[in-house]
Amino acid sequence: MKNRASLDGNTALITGASSGLGAEFARQLAAMGCHLILVARREHRLQALRQELLARHPVSVRVLPADLSEPDSPQTLYAAIKAAGLSVDILVNNAGYGIYGEHATIPWPQERQMLMLDILAVMQFTKLALADMLQRDSGYILQVSSIGAYQPSPTYAAYGAAKTFVLYFGEALNYELRKTQVSCTVLSPGVTATEFLQVAGQKPTLYQRLMMMQSPEVVRIGLKAMLRRKPSVVAGRLNALMVWSNRCLPRRWSAAIAYRLMTLR
Ligand SMILES: NC(=O)c1ccc[n+]([C@@H]2O[C@H](COP(=O)([O-])OP(=O)(O)OC[C@H]3O[C@@H](n4cnc5c(N)ncnc54)[C@H](OP(=O)(O)O)[C@@H]3O)[C@@H](O)[C@H]2O)c1
Repeated sequence: MKNRASLDGNTALITGASSGLGAEFARQLAAMGCHLILVARREHRLQALRQELLARHPVSVRVLPADLSEPDSPQTLYAAIKAAGLSVDILVNNAGYGIYGEHATIPWPQERQMLMLDILAVMQFTKLALADMLQRDSGYILQVSSIGAYQPSPTYAAYGAAKTFVLYFGEALNYELRKTQVSCTVLSPGVTATEFLQVAGQKPTLYQRLMMMQSPEVVRIGLKAMLRRKPSVVAGRLNALMVWSNRCLPRRWSAAIAYRLMTLR
């Protein structure tokens, strides 16, 4: 297992680095000595983060603005990264969002765009980076899922199911890679203070206000698990307890409880 210090000089590609967990991944990985490639749509945010990081750490930071929900956008971006002579040692597939509301009320174009990002961009980046990592027999992939992945999530039906995809995909991949020095770890955060709820169009419920974690802690948990090459980690003891207790319930009960937690104010 590598420790924090041995990441020095590695290059990390972080998607969704313009806010929330992604920006925090950038801060913590830069503090470990990683060079960074930051991706998101809002270039001004990425540039501001770049300036902040360059002022604090002796690392290089590249900003690559892109809309990853566009078909094959990951492929175009990855080709540009390789053409610049860079290799990705750490891939953090963090970009993602949810849409709050009952499935029947969400227009298909919006939902399709979300799924392009939450599922297809994750898979495509993984496939591209993995091929190079396997050639070097070295690398880390960190997928950001959600505790919503562990049960049916009414009011976030498609988002929750997309995160289940990410969870199972990542855990299966970690097993396939067990004899290599490449690993895939899935981080499942619970409610975290980022722009997530605002983007999803949800006012925080009582449960969300009580359970809210801060990004630095969630990211620390994710990076620690990644360095240990664990298949999966749930952020925070209370969230882990909820995930564990869900396993003892019939899924229709879990769905009913999840619905209450997402709607009671
Ligand atoms: N916060 C939570 O409660 C929570 C809980 C469980 C899981 N998560 C997961 O954590 C991850 C990070 O979310 P967050 O909480 O940090 O939310 P956030 O603050 O809204 O950040 C989401 C990031 O994704 C980027 N993004 C969105 N659409 C994009 C697109 N089409 N192309 C490229 N980048 C795009 C955003 O940048 P631009 O808008 O600039 O493109 C932003 O940097 C997501 O995968 C989310 O599902 C969050």
